[in-house]
Amino acid sequence: MASLAAASAPALSITDLRKTYDNGTTALKGVSLQVAPGDFFALLGPNGAGKSTLIGIVSSLVNKSSGEVKVFDVDLSRHRDAAMRLLGLVPQEINFNLFEKPLDILVNYAGFYGIPRAEALVRAEEELKRARLWEKAGVMSRTLSGGMKRRLMIARAMMTRPRLLILDEPTAGVDIEIRRDMWKVLKEINAAGTTIILTTHYLEEAESLCRNLAIIDRGTIVEQGPMKALLAKLDVEGFLFDIDGQLPAQLPAIEGTTLVAADHHTLDVEMPRAMDLNSVFAALNDAGIRVRSMRTKSNRLEELFVRLTGNEEKAA
Ligand SMILES: Nc1ncnc2c1ncn2[C@@H]1O[C@H](COP(=O)(O)OP(=O)(O)OP(=O)(O)O)[C@@H](O)[C@H]1O
Ligand SMILES: [Mg+2]
Repeated sequence: MASLAAASAPALSITDLRKTYDNGTTALKGVSLQVAPGDFFALLGPNGAGKSTLIGIVSSLVNKSSGEVKVFDVDLSRHRDAAMRLLGLVPQEINFNLFEKPLDILVNYAGFYGIPRAEALVRAEEELKRARLWEKAGVMSRTLSGGMKRRLMIARAMMTRPRLLILDEPTAGVDIEIRRDMWKVLKEINAAGTTIILTTHYLEEAESLCRNLAIIDRGTIVEQGPMKALLAKLDVEGFLFDIDGQLPAQLPAIEGTTLVAADHHTLDVEMPRAMDLNSVFAALNDAGIRVRSMRTKSNRLEELFVRLTGNEEKAA
């Protein structure tokens, strides 16, 4: 029974996690989340949301103020080493020695975790190949491109065969082609059975990689669930209708839509993408409101995400 329970235990379970730094900044205000084994999970949030703090706590680099963290049912506070053995971490900043060669970086890292050299060499070849870096195994890491350096960070984290791989903004500031190359590598790793959690600013990245996500803003989870459900929720269109004359004080109720008077002769309309505009025009007409012209409010997913987190300037 015990082993059965462990097999189906969440890869990560966080309960009411709080963190206040010594300078008084509260970075996490009671965060709870669960990541299923095998999942590809995104932690999405703007700058300063608390993503790195959360990841820092899970990877034992930052002390929590309170709350509980379990990795495959292993309590991080009580069994730190056992929990850490299940984890691989790719930090936000590149932190390998630029004057070492990729193969040495990987083999030395494995040695640090007690993996015998012969085994480490086998794994290093495997990981460098998966990361499309095998031809670069013997060059000075300094000469790798930005994208290659990022993939080397992933290959290094995989040397210990973690069951849960955590990446903190693996693609921040890198161009789209480099991001796509990395996505391929991550998808392969996930398909081979490793649970992946990544933090990102980019909804697009979460969308193309992840099955489930949590959105964090100012230390609080504001949304959590399957990617598909979130996208459906975001699947609203916004319009501004210019009205002949003045809007009545009491706006009509039109099922499925949200109507707000932007000013006396502009109506702000939100409705599901699938809804027929003509039915909205007709209902407005019945209420004596004639639409003279309309504009589409921009509704790119990123902007909806911004609305969700209410953190406009930072997600730009
Ligand atoms: N060592 C620290 N001491 C004090 N405050 C900190 C420390 N690290 C982070 N903070 C603060 O905690 C909050 C959350 O920061 P955190 O780095 O976790 O956010 P983030 O979501 O990773 O942001 P980014 O997307 O910019 O990496 C911010 O207000 C930040 O200024
Ligand atoms: Mg961060």
